[in-house]
Formats: sequence, structure tokens, C-alpha cells
Amino acid sequence: MRRRWLVLAIGCLLLLVAAGCGGGETASPTPETVEGTVPTETEGGGAGGPEGDATAGKEIFTSAGCGSCHTFEKAGSSGQVGPDLDESKTPYDEAVEQIANGGGAMPPFKDQLSEKQIADVAAFVSASESG
Ligand code: HEC
Repeated sequence: MRRRWLVLAIGCLLLLVAAGCGGGETASPTPETVEGTVPTETEGGGAGGPEGDATAGKEIFTSAGCGSCHTFEKAGSSGQVGPDLDESKTPYDEAVEQIANGGGAMPPFKDQLSEKQIADVAAFVSASESG
């Protein structure tokens, strides 16, 4: 009897560990619980890459002319050609995609902006911070 309890207990533990690895949380390219040195500035971007820096993105938004087509309150712009970015709350990955490759009446920006700049401006316009 006692031994069976032990087996059960170990089984539960293993299950818990397995669940702890995958359960609930979405996989993130940047592990949050790693100890030691984590590179703070990583090159790259795009889907699967590190998320951009929204503060840097604000300047890119202005200098790349996004505001001439998009209304976006945080950038103080009121363009009417594209969707109101305050309303659309585009997810980060979709914003990266849209900015890099364009779509609809929006031109692609991958020749003008680096991957990092696209990641930055996508972070600035995407909904990630509001939930
Ligand atoms: C020439 C006008 C124009 C410029 C410049 C422009 N956009 Fe757009 N943008 C559009 C249009 C039009 C759409 C809608 C495309 C569609 O209907 O598929 C759009 C769509 C988007 C979307 C998706 C919104 C949604 O609701 O799906 C994002 C995000 C976006 N633009 C961000 C930017 C950023 C960031 C810049 C600057 C790097 C930029 N845009 C520059 C016209 C523009």
C-alpha cells in the first residue's frame, strides 16, 4: 500500500513539472527566468525576434512618415489615409508584417527601415502594452 502511494506521488510530481514547462503560458522567445547574463540589446526583429523598443519607435513613426497616413494619438498624428491606429490595436506580429511588406494602400518599409527599426515602430503602434 505504502509503495503505491509513493508511485502516485512521484507521478503527480512529474506531471506538475511537465505542466510547469508548457502549461498556460505562451512560449516567448526571450526567457524570463534565465539567470546570469541575458543580452539586453539584440539585433534583428521581425516575427520571432525580440520585441522592439516602443520609445525608439516613436521617432521612427514620425521620421518615416507613418503619421501622414495614420492617426495615432501617442505620436500626435492625424493622417486619414490608413486606419486609425488607436482604434485598430494591431498585434505586434501583424504590425511587423504590415510595416515590412505593406498591404492595401500602405507601402512596404523594409527597404527604408532596418529590421530593428521595424520592430521598434511595431512595438510603438501595437497593442501589447494595453493588454
Ligand atoms: C501611404 C500611406 C501610409 C503610410 C505612409 C503608412 N501606412 Fe500603415 N496603413 C496604410 C493603409 C491604407 C493601411 C490599411 C491596409 C489594408 O487595408 O490592408 C495601413 C495599415 C497599417 C497597419 C495595420 C492596421 C490594421 O488595422 O490592420 C499598421 C499597424 C500600420 N499601417 C502601421 C504603419 C506604420 C508604423 C507606418 C510607418 C512606418 C505606416 N503604417 C505608414 C497606409 C499607410
